[in-house]
Amino acid sequence: MSGQTHLKFLNYNAVVENSTDGLMHSEAQTEAWGVSFAKKLKPGDVVALEGDLGAGKTALCRGICKGLGFNGTVNSPSYAIVHEYPNEPPIYHIDLYRLKNTNDLQDIGIEDLTSGITLIEWPQMAGNFPLNITHRITIKITNENSRELRVSNE
Ligand SMILES: Nc1ncnc2c1ncn2[C@@H]1O[C@H](COP(=O)(O)OP(=O)(O)OP(=O)(O)O)[C@@H](O)[C@H]1O
Ligand SMILES: [Mg+2]
Repeated sequence: MSGQTHLKFLNYNAVVENSTDGLMHSEAQTEAWGVSFAKKLKPGDVVALEGDLGAGKTALCRGICKGLGFNGTVNSPSYAIVHEYPNEPPIYHIDLYRLKNTNDLQDIGIEDLTSGITLIEWPQMAGNFPLNITHRITIKITNENSRELRVSNE
């Protein structure tokens, strides 16, 4: 199982310059990986990004948005739970870090965002609420400037 995940990871990674393993040595490299990963995505996909505070989830989202054609500002939605970026397909950037009640997920209609691509930071805050995740990316802080990425399809 983990071997399979690793193989998939290497496939995505093969198209990213200067990286032959799961290690990203700078924020720029993580973003570039996101640009490349974005090419695999299609409307309706839901990407879950897991990792500690400061792991690089938002940096990766910035790269994914760029890869999807959106070059505007990408920051963690802090007051709103969701940011919608104007793009074709539309991008929904969700951060559940401050989620208090899963009813709020119903209110933002998270289940109906199937026309766009949804990126979710802190998906574990949703508990048992169905997020329909299609791709899960886990980021591990390995030292100040390096991060280990793992990706799996669900
Ligand atoms: N290899 C790397 N990849 C990504 N970010 C890195 C890397 N090395 C250092 N960093 C730094 O780590 C921080 C990542 O911040 P970012 O906001 O993307 O994290 P986050 O996972 O979204 O955090 P939060 O849980 O607070 O939303 C930035 O300050 C960035 O410069
Ligand atoms: Mg963030």
